[in-house]
Order: sequence, then C-alpha cells, then structure tokens
Amino acid sequence: MNIILLGPPGAGKGTQARRLVDERGMVQLSTGDMLREARTSGTEMGRKVADVMDRGELVTDEIVIGLIEEKLDHEEGTGFIFDGFPRTLPQADALAELLTRKGQELDAVIEIRVDDAALVERISGRATCGNCGEVYHDVTKPVPADGKCAVCGSDDIRRRADDNAESLKQRLLEYYKKTSPLLGYYYAKGELRGVDGMAEIDSVSQEIGAILS
Ligand code: AP5
Ligand code: ZN
Repeated sequence: MNIILLGPPGAGKGTQARRLVDERGMVQLSTGDMLREARTSGTEMGRKVADVMDRGELVTDEIVIGLIEEKLDHEEGTGFIFDGFPRTLPQADALAELLTRKGQELDAVIEIRVDDAALVERISGRATCGNCGEVYHDVTKPVPADGKCAVCGSDDIRRRADDNAESLKQRLLEYYKKTSPLLGYYYAKGELRGVDGMAEIDSVSQEIGAILS
C-alpha cells in the first residue's frame, strides 16, 4: 500500500507518518528529512538547498524527484508513505511515473486539514529528537522534564531553522500557490481523502487507519 500525506506545514504529516511506520511497517519517505540530512552531512546538494529551505521556499523539482527516485530503488517495506512529496504538479507526475515503472500504484492521498492559526501554534512549539526523529510540542506533547527523548533517551532535542514566523509565512504561501493544486489533481483521479487534522493526534490516526483498512 502506497499513500501520500498532504497538508500545509505543521499539519501533522510527520507525526502521523511515524505512527504508520510503527504500526504497519510502512516506509516513511520525507523529502524534508532527506534534505535536512543532506545539510547535516554537508553534501554539496545540502549546501545548495540550505538558504532556500531556511527562507521557506521550495527546492527544485529536479532535486527532490532525484531523492525520491533513489529511495524507491533501495527501500523495502509494506508500502511507502510519501510525506511532504509531491509538492508541485511536476512532482506528482514524476511520482506517478516512478510508481508505474516499479509496477506499483498509489492507494490513497490523505489531506490533513488544519486551520492556518493552529499551524502557527504547532510550528512555534515544535521540537524534534535529532536521534530518532520523534516529534514533540511544548504544549501538546512536551519533551520529558529531564530533557531526554521519551523514545530513545537522547538529549539531542532540536528546533528547526525554518520554524520561525517569517519562514512559516513563506512556507504557507508556497503551499497555497504550488501544492494546493494537487488537491484538485488527486480529487479528479478519485484518490483524495480528507481527515480532520484539528482533532487530537490519536483521533487523526484513527481516521487515517479507517481510510487504510
Ligand atoms: P518539510 O520538512 O516537509 O516541512 P513541512 O511540509 O513544512 O512540514 P512540517 O514538517 O513542518 O510539518 P508536519 O506536517 O510534518 O507536522 P508535524 O508532524 O511535525 O519541508 C521543509 C522544507 O524542505 C520546505 O519548506 C522546502 O524548502 C523543502 N522541501 C521538502 N520537501 C520538498 C518538496 N517535495 N519539494 C520542494 N521542496 C521541499 O507536526 C507539527 C507540530 O504539531 C509538532 O510539534 C506536533 O507535535 C504537533 N501536532 C501534530 N499533530 C497534532 C495534532 N493533531 N494536534 C496538536 N498538535 C499536533
Ligand atoms: Zn529520540
């Protein structure tokens, strides 16, 4: 089973993807994580995209399609969760082509719907474990009092460089301009499903589970 999690920055795509990995053995393919990894490891591509990401703009289709293509060739699991990809119509066309080439299909495109005001709250309170990727929030899911990740015990708790008001404004603009046309694209193919992303994390997971069962 292959699915796309679609939604604006902070909608909860990463949070829900991690649950699907744990519960269903699916493989999470997050282009945001791949790009951040390239930055941390100091590759040429990582250096090239750093400023673009920090400003909240989209990196080129060519780069992210290349990243996804490479992962699809090397990762195995019960299915792929595309998290933060595709984000433009050319990326959506490229994904369709890559899956066809592998003899695979897209089973569902799940839009996680969240109000803009809530996105600001979520992004400004977010922290992530640099070791295992667990996602926290200062108010709704705080890091334990000892400052260590509840999942892996690491004290490498990070804040993202693009999680500030100015970058978020740009990320939202990019979403509405370049990514939201994908909603119509997948609706026309009969693949789009929506979940209420304003609900609690567990409820969102249940709604997604119901779509996938
Ligand atoms: P990316 O890393 O994909 O960031 P994003 O889309 O902005 O999404 P986020 O990771 O910010 O949010 P999320 O939906 O995963 O929310 P989360 O689960 O963390 O992309 C970053 C950058 O990389 C882009 O700006 C671009 O430059 C580049 N890029 C990446 N992919 C690209 C592509 N395909 N093409 C071009 N450029 C690309 O949750 C957020 C917070 O809310 C957390 O604190 C969480 O605990 C909390 N939360 C989650 N769910 C709930 C809930 N139901 N109730 C209350 N709180 C909740
Ligand atoms: Zn951790």
